[in-house]
Amino acid sequence: MKKFLDLGLQPLANSYILEKNLKMKEKKFRLEIGFNEKNYLVSILNTVSKEKMFNKNYPYKSSESKTMRNSFINLAKKIKRRFNPNFVIEIGSNDGAFIKNFKKDQVVGVEPCKNLALITKRKNFKIYPQFWNIRLAKKITKDKKADLIYSANTLSHIKNFNEIFKAIKYSLSDNGILILEDPSLLECVKKVAYDQFYCEHLYVFSTISLQKILDNFQLEIFDIENISTHGGSNRYYIKKRTNSIHRITRKVKIEVSKETKYGLKNFVTYKKFAKKVSISRIKLLGILKNLKKNKKKVIGYGATAKSCTVLNYCGVDRRLIEYFYDTTSFKINKYLPGSKIKIKKYKKLKKNDVDYVFLGAWNFKDEIFKKEKKFIKQGGKFISHIPYPKIT
Ligand code: SAM
Ligand code: TMP
Repeated sequence: MKKFLDLGLQPLANSYILEKNLKMKEKKFRLEIGFNEKNYLVSILNTVSKEKMFNKNYPYKSSESKTMRNSFINLAKKIKRRFNPNFVIEIGSNDGAFIKNFKKDQVVGVEPCKNLALITKRKNFKIYPQFWNIRLAKKITKDKKADLIYSANTLSHIKNFNEIFKAIKYSLSDNGILILEDPSLLECVKKVAYDQFYCEHLYVFSTISLQKILDNFQLEIFDIENISTHGGSNRYYIKKRTNSIHRITRKVKIEVSKETKYGLKNFVTYKKFAKKVSISRIKLLGILKNLKKNKKKVIGYGATAKSCTVLNYCGVDRRLIEYFYDTTSFKINKYLPGSKIKIKKYKKLKKNDVDYVFLGAWNFKDEIFKKEKKFIKQGGKFISHIPYPKIT
């Protein structure tokens, strides 16, 4: 693994701080990113244990975003039309935003965060409040294999590929389909979206790296969709190599060629990316310091895990961004880890209250700009660091 980027000492991205704990010392770890020249995988170098990240305090709820809800509704329709599965498993089912689009006797969810598992359990869905592994796979699919396994924004959080893919292979029927969905490395590098890296995001996959990994388990990608969620993701359709029902589409070849042409197989591409990241830091700080000097009121919008990486890497604190708005009830009245900026309950933006808004949830830009069109019309401005820091 060759290191190309050091994002400094970072707290756990989702460890939002209670007011009474503000003076307590936070646990930090060094966030360094590396490239594996053998399998082209880009990953963080120092990992944090899964129990520390995924427990009953995990704040992220897929259902809180309209974009995600719609994405899951549309995918469920597509899956029913294209594959008509009888038995579906979702790994990382979170608060049930995907599985709720299926009949209760058709689908099971695997979700280790008990707070989230409970939400779906209460709606009478079958949920296993555990980490996905081979033992669980045997328990769920001993008698009946799955026609479809779906996992979004989860595999990129899991350290042990060997266990994960062995378990998937065990649970999937011979002609079954695995659908994985995760942020795309090509989009991440193009957009200088270094905030895709934080403690939970162990990897940002490219098609070429995923192909290499899947190859070890006799699995192969037969189709790909580029989707807009999470700042640009790929949805990979995967099958067992022995399954000849689904032909490999041209889209796979095209994606591989796009990634190769962009240089995702070459270390030098990542060195260039690292240089752009350090320029991005200087520019963002310049904008925020200048607004402060001119006595402008700057707040943040979307206290995301991504923001945590940006704020801590750039050394931004409440002197530069007064507070953040967020819609997630769990985050409200807490403080962002590291930067210790307060998170307030979201209120519609008004130019009388705020001058500039740092877009922490840049991946929901369209949804947010639509919601705040009055603020924008009144002359309110957003600051985004993607693809380079600027006021929009
Ligand atoms: N799939 C949802 C989505 O795309 O919106 C949730 C994504 S969320 C970022 C990651 C989810 O994966 C969390 O709910 C987390 O608890 C779950 N998770 C993490 N590690 C897991 C594991 N080893 N097995 C199953 N789920 C896991
Ligand atoms: P994510 O980037 O990890 O998906 O998190 C999105 C965060 O942004 C989540 O905390 C909710 C917040 N958010 C808002 O506060 N308002 C919005 O309109 C949207 C779309 C997200």
